[in-house]
Amino acid sequence: MKTAKFKNPRASHGFQGRTCSIAAVGSCVPERRLTNADLEKSVDTSDEWIVTRTGIRERRIAGPQEYTSDLAAKAAATALQRAGVTADQIDLIIVATITPDMGFPATACLVQQKIGAKRAAAFDLEAACSGFIYALEVGQQFIMSCTYNTVLVIGAEKLSSIVNWQDRNTCVLFGDGAGAAVLQHRPSAHGLLTVCMGADGGKASLISMPGGGSLHPASMQTVVSGMHFLRMEGKEVFKSAVTAMCTAAEEALRRCEIDVSQIKCIIPHQANRRIIDAVADRLGAKPEQVFLNLEKYGNTSAASVAIALDEAVQLGRIQRGDLVLLMAFGAGLTWGAAVIEW
Ligand code: COA
Repeated sequence: MKTAKFKNPRASHGFQGRTCSIAAVGSCVPERRLTNADLEKSVDTSDEWIVTRTGIRERRIAGPQEYTSDLAAKAAATALQRAGVTADQIDLIIVATITPDMGFPATACLVQQKIGAKRAAAFDLEAACSGFIYALEVGQQFIMSCTYNTVLVIGAEKLSSIVNWQDRNTCVLFGDGAGAAVLQHRPSAHGLLTVCMGADGGKASLISMPGGGSLHPASMQTVVSGMHFLRMEGKEVFKSAVTAMCTAAEEALRRCEIDVSQIKCIIPHQANRRIIDAVADRLGAKPEQVFLNLEKYGNTSAASVAIALDEAVQLGRIQRGDLVLLMAFGAGLTWGAAVIEW
């Protein structure tokens, strides 16, 4: 490992040479594009409103027989192939999602079956749009503790299945997709240097899908009153998002004793262009450091950071040895930031 221009916070925590790197990433988005012009035909909105308020131009929508586990399995297959890892080498699969195929069993178990990872343990993690960063942190704990050698972390969503297509406040924002990362110890790199996570359950009502759980079990009444749809108080979420992502990112940079200028590529949760610009501005980041793809996919929740990371890597925006900052916020509220030596 070469001499680093940053501090590895994990090194002082007794991990002694063990690292957790992202060996490879992969992603999958459905074929079908839903443009702002398409939405103009179904709700009272306009391309101009959506683009100026969010930056989104189109999103991908899964087919009626294409489920979260399908998108996840395809993203995983690409990541595994790029990493040169076979399905039987996977020790653990973590799927971050708020749109599992069903209430239970876990979507991770369905993915395990679809990719043939017979040896792998599997579970889902729910931290909404922060899910991929939360899952990276959980997955790396198993690598760093030498419990497992190969962990597959996936963020996957079919948000089109919980969006109210009559509600212009929300339906223009979301899309479907999946991204996957293969985690392994790699002696030549520091890998995941730190992950900062946070939550505020006091703001749980700002984004939620209230129906279908033990609080409001599914009934005629919950269906009629739209409780199985995603609900959101957009303005309040906006304010919390900027503060939460800045706080998490600043803490992550502080722990690694680096300045934002040392970051080669910032991968923010792709929810809203204005949120991303405000956060980048507060962090003192240059626009060219920030990777954006929300105009093509909208907000894909747990998949968003994973898909963007994959695209940034495939486009050559991230090379081995570069410092990368991931950051996200979402329902819970939850938030997180991670610094990686790629
Ligand atoms: N098309 C046209 N008008 C719309 C609209 C749409 N798709 N959606 C809402 N409007 C209207 C509202 O009804 C409101 O009209 P009114 O003033 O007559 O009541 C008006 O536009 C302004 O709404 P406002 O809420 O002030 O807009 P905004 O600037 O806050 O932007 C969001 C709305 C949702 C884009 C913005 O708040 C946001 O992005 N919030 C964060 C959401 C998010 O990221 N959620 C995911 C978290 S992971």
